[in-house]
Amino acid sequence: MTMYDIIKHKRDGGVLSDQQIRKVIEGYTRGEIPDYQMSALLMAIFYKGMTFEETASLTYAIRDSGDVMDLSSIAGVKVDKHSSGGVGDKTTLVVAPIVASLGAKVAKMSGRGLGHTGGTVDKLESIPGFRTSLSGEEFFDVVRRVGVAVVGQSGDLAPADKKLYALRDVTATVDSKPLIVSSIMGKKLAGGADGIVLDVKTGSGSFMKTVEDAKELAAMMVAIGHTAGKRMVALVTDMDIPLGHAVGNSLEVVEAIATLKGQGPQDLTDVCLELAANMLFVAGRGEIDACRALAKEALHSGQALNTLAAMVKAQGGDPAYIYDTELFAKATHARDVLAPRSGYVVKVDAEEYGLAALSLGAGRLRKEDAIDPSSGLIIHVKPGEYVQAGQPLVTMHTNRPIFLADAEERLLAATEIADDNITRRPLVLDRIVV
Ligand code: URA
Repeated sequence: MTMYDIIKHKRDGGVLSDQQIRKVIEGYTRGEIPDYQMSALLMAIFYKGMTFEETASLTYAIRDSGDVMDLSSIAGVKVDKHSSGGVGDKTTLVVAPIVASLGAKVAKMSGRGLGHTGGTVDKLESIPGFRTSLSGEEFFDVVRRVGVAVVGQSGDLAPADKKLYALRDVTATVDSKPLIVSSIMGKKLAGGADGIVLDVKTGSGSFMKTVEDAKELAAMMVAIGHTAGKRMVALVTDMDIPLGHAVGNSLEVVEAIATLKGQGPQDLTDVCLELAANMLFVAGRGEIDACRALAKEALHSGQALNTLAAMVKAQGGDPAYIYDTELFAKATHARDVLAPRSGYVVKVDAEEYGLAALSLGAGRLRKEDAIDPSSGLIIHVKPGEYVQAGQPLVTMHTNRPIFLADAEERLLAATEIADDNITRRPLVLDRIVV
């Protein structure tokens, strides 16, 4: 079959073979299949979907498009986590040190923020000196010595996904389940860990707007990882509202550190403990309740905080910032957004809050934009809480005061205050294990 035939077959609802899918991915990665034909195939997949077998074939083809990390020279069980992306999601900064402090190894590749969502690599780079780009040998050495290293994605890991993601971004084909599953799992399988925990977000600040879609996505990823021989768990977690109070790079690092000191916001602490417990579970450290107890203990003993400081030092950063967060530079301007009326806060729209933080300098509008690490938001009132008129809802931090007025308007429009309170749904909506 030519590429033309493959596009036509999928357009008409046909099922592609493993061989056809591999041929397409190999050809596209090598630059032999042009973007316009790949775009047409992506749109056909968007509309016609893929069977489980096709999705698995696409995942493995993406995994095999570049290097697959061999972590066997690192002793112990290697575990990884992946979040499908959200606002205020600083869980890796808390979870990875907890798990590593308990002896599981975390060799983690993370992403940068794009659009309204933040990225772990940008957050870590707000720690002066921290290097998110290490040679392969340095990366392995830090994992062996400290138990955890977090770096940006290496150039040769799942290169097909890099090209496909950029194309999907501009052809309105991001929010397709088989394409999301293969993109996330192709990268995770190339990362080489023995066990993987997925945090599938659902709600306004995520790609999966409904719980049903998020559950279906999570089940497919878990099944594909399991077929590839990995121990897998997926949690479906709420992303209707930002996680924790801080949105923006150094602000989120400070909140993650507070959480590692046992002083973090309840929602963030709960999600982090559940993710950490599940990583310990896939690492074979016992039943889930025993793993929950281990994770809690590592947080409260300060052992996990020390592991974060050790990782920061090993990756060139200044560990003094971990023990004294007052050292982080502050933005030149801070302005409160005040409640226009008294009542219960019933909505804080995650996507809009993410976009407001971005406009203040916390994110990028284009890939080449520079991040302003100290800008962002501190949210004072979350849904379910009561505010008096004139009380601060959010504090905006920025070095670009010219953008304050627009951000304020956006934040006010994204916050709903009502006479009657709402019941918030649980933070962890499902757990899928194989
Ligand atoms: N995150 C990814 O890595 N890929 C997707 O397709 C969506 C979210």
